[in-house]
Amino acid sequence: MENNKVLEAVGLSKYFYDPVKFQVLKEISMSINHGEFVSIVGKSGCGKSTLLYLLSTMDTDYDGEIFIHNELVTGKTDKELALIRNEKIGFVFQFHYLLAEYNVLKNVMLPGMKLGKFTNQELEHRAMEHLKTLDMQDQALKMPNQLSGGQKQRVAIARALINDPLIIMGDEPTGNLDKKNSDLVFDIFKKLTQEKNQTLLVVTHDTDFAERTNRIITMEDGSIIS
Ligand SMILES: Nc1ncnc2c1ncn2[C@@H]1O[C@H](COP(=O)(O)OP(=O)(O)OP(=O)(O)O)[C@@H](O)[C@H]1O
Ligand SMILES: [Mg+2]
Repeated sequence: MENNKVLEAVGLSKYFYDPVKFQVLKEISMSINHGEFVSIVGKSGCGKSTLLYLLSTMDTDYDGEIFIHNELVTGKTDKELALIRNEKIGFVFQFHYLLAEYNVLKNVMLPGMKLGKFTNQELEHRAMEHLKTLDMQDQALKMPNQLSGGQKQRVAIARALINDPLIIMGDEPTGNLDKKNSDLVFDIFKKLTQEKNQTLLVVTHDTDFAERTNRIITMEDGSIIS
């Protein structure tokens, strides 16, 4: 490989048409290198979540190009994109989206079962290892509604890690947590970059959090200003 870019966006523009035509993203170009921990900040409504939706391939209605691991993903079919997402991207959102009908262990294993790269036995082992790293091994057999908010978010992180993602993307992963649990999630992310060279891209309102990442991307009115 000629470079160590994990993610690259070239000239991304996006419009919403309802209720009126409105350019939400304006010629966004950026790239993330392997092992970087990058945050995206900016005022409410400036386009952070919209940009993350594009970068994570969930929204394909845009102009410009997106490369993941130097591969052009723009123009691929929904099926191809679903595979790329499951294989290469781990997600952590403000709300955990754990499935209420499955226990912690199964929730963590699910994206792995969908991908089919590992056997169920391997997945169970991997899931337990991640839960252990997050100090959650004792909670593995609990149902999501038996966990605290901070614990749920740690399960969501374990789930994001199950397929060894190229990059973890988060939209306000600490948005629903108190200071103590936010710090804990930050420390987990930091440890992942330092010890596992994990690449992370996180949208956040939390300036404390952002200032402790490797690089801050600041957005204003659909553009990157620094
Ligand atoms: N489906 C939609 N249709 C029309 N406009 C939308 C739609 N989704 C978002 N917008 C508008 O696009 C702009 C950017 O929204 P976005 O959710 O990306 O902001 P954000 O930076 O993530 O804000 P926040 O910090 O509040 O989460 C906002 O003005 C919003 O009202
Ligand atoms: Mg948002």
